[in-house]
Amino acid sequence: MCGIVGYVGPQSALDVVLEGLRRLEYRGYDSAGVAVLADGGTATAKKAGKLANLEKVLADSPLPESTTGIGHTRWATHGGPTDRNAHPHLSVDGKVAVIHNGIIENFAALRAECEATGVEFASETDTEVAAHLLAKQYAETPQGPGRLAEAMRAVSRRLEGAFTLVASHADEPDTLVASRRNSPLVVGVGDGEYFLGSDVAAFIAHTREARELGQDQVVEIDRRRGLTVTDFGGTVVEPTAYTVDWDAEAAEKGGHDWFMLKEIAEQPQAVADTLLGRLGDDGQLVLDEVRLSDQELRDIDKVFVVSCGTSYHAGLIAKYAIEHWTRIPVEVEVASEFRYRDPVLDRSTLVVVISQSGETMDTLMALRHAKDQKARVLAICNVNGSTIPRESDAVLYTHAGPEVAVASTKSFLAQIVACYLVGLVLAQVRGMKYADEVAAIVEDLRRLPDAVSQVLTRMEPVRELGRSLADADTILFLGRHVGFPVALEGALKLKELAYIHAEGFAAGELKHGPIALIDRGTPVVVIVPSPRSRGSVHGKVVSNIQEVRARGARTIVIAEEGDDDVLPYADHVIRVPRTPTLLAPIVTTVPLQVLACEIADTRGYDVDQPRNLAKSVTVE
Ligand code: AGP
Repeated sequence: MCGIVGYVGPQSALDVVLEGLRRLEYRGYDSAGVAVLADGGTATAKKAGKLANLEKVLADSPLPESTTGIGHTRWATHGGPTDRNAHPHLSVDGKVAVIHNGIIENFAALRAECEATGVEFASETDTEVAAHLLAKQYAETPQGPGRLAEAMRAVSRRLEGAFTLVASHADEPDTLVASRRNSPLVVGVGDGEYFLGSDVAAFIAHTREARELGQDQVVEIDRRRGLTVTDFGGTVVEPTAYTVDWDAEAAEKGGHDWFMLKEIAEQPQAVADTLLGRLGDDGQLVLDEVRLSDQELRDIDKVFVVSCGTSYHAGLIAKYAIEHWTRIPVEVEVASEFRYRDPVLDRSTLVVVISQSGETMDTLMALRHAKDQKARVLAICNVNGSTIPRESDAVLYTHAGPEVAVASTKSFLAQIVACYLVGLVLAQVRGMKYADEVAAIVEDLRRLPDAVSQVLTRMEPVRELGRSLADADTILFLGRHVGFPVALEGALKLKELAYIHAEGFAAGELKHGPIALIDRGTPVVVIVPSPRSRGSVHGKVVSNIQEVRARGARTIVIAEEGDDDVLPYADHVIRVPRTPTLLAPIVTTVPLQVLACEIADTRGYDVDQPRNLAKSVTVE
């Protein structure tokens, strides 16, 4: 989710690029850098931390005047948030500068290829590979107009994964090229000037005329030749032209009213990016960064999952999957309780700490306690280089990108996916699953981004339902099996966004007391498991719907396509795609996020910054 800006035109490139980066700051980042073309060379400046740090560097060592430049705010994925890992990255001769948003899945092999030719890498990033490959390709490309674009096409054809690459070459001072696959890139068209951006916020101050690039396309912007777009094969294509009618603030939110809605919409990409580079072609899992040996994984005889809030709910879902796939006992604990109950931990215990921010003090203190007890600690975290992964023995980063809204959404789905990967690796290494069984589940995981996309296309009835529930003073959520943590998450979303008393229950618990809460018209949301789920859980949940409906509840049912058993007892049915039982939370959670957001918005609350809450709770 890095921020990208490029400029070619009559203005000061540095001014335009820095202004664009400031408008992209909302995306969250941990380092920033710029490059400009001047005097036959490439001048760069880059610095870890916020833009202010970069601006200080520029004040101390000004760059030469230039009318062609690129800029980048980095959200670290491969390699920590350091000066050397900040973009732009340069070729060995310094002539090529590259900035990148996304993940180059096959960068390790490409890096080895470059190193075999004597290239010494200056960073730990996947991006730097592109700079070296581009320089080599450029040297092998016939001179003439479009040379850099042709080199970019050739390199792009070799890359796998998700990338938006923007590059310059000192020998073409009036040209920038960019390439995109599975990662956004828009072009701004001004009067004799052109802009590149990861989103329109980068250039909306200068022009509202935009061109959307499609999948596997390369764009060249040149002061004399203007704008040229081709596919990776070199065939010229006509980009989609549109006029941006958002104001600058709306542009930051991608046209959504709230960052939370933007982040809900980004969930298919967050799930896909968290899987990127981790699913081998042979169906085997590749979690190199986990840094626990196969033997260490085989020696584990107990797993604790420790986290807070929404991340705790991800842990509850992880329990079902890890226990089912590995037969290792899993305990899920609220971090703020964990260390005070003196849990039994030893070297054969794996403690998985889940944290979006990587700074939650309750979770950090639990981690330290686990390490004091000689347990092995694996962090699942969304912020590269944050405290919790730094203090853990191993880390599996979610690649949800920066999450601006206080309410966790895309990071939650990414956490669940990361937990599935941990469970599968344990099962794979311990021989609890044959390779073909792992491969089958991996194929199911690959289908999740599309499943989430399908759910997102059906949210208007959910928003309408949310508006009709805006005056509710209590809403209950019921679920069984993996639907129970989803019920807890749905209730938490409603509490933290709409300030409504909401409670999630294991549906089977209702008759042991909570059913007394049901009154005429009480809204009850029920997450129905797949009819194909293990045992008769599905039938029991349908009975639970009947029980509350018989007592006057207004039943809102989340059920799989084709599950008509729920129809006689449901006032509202929200359909989700058929999904394997253990993976269902990835799709059933989404309507609950949208419902809570709509209710809060209807009540006139600040959805992104709810009262009393912080995005990262750094106190115990
Ligand atoms: C969830 O919407 C909240 N933002 C909160 O419960 C959050 O999940 C919790 O504070 C844990 O934060 P972390 O994942 O950054 O550790």
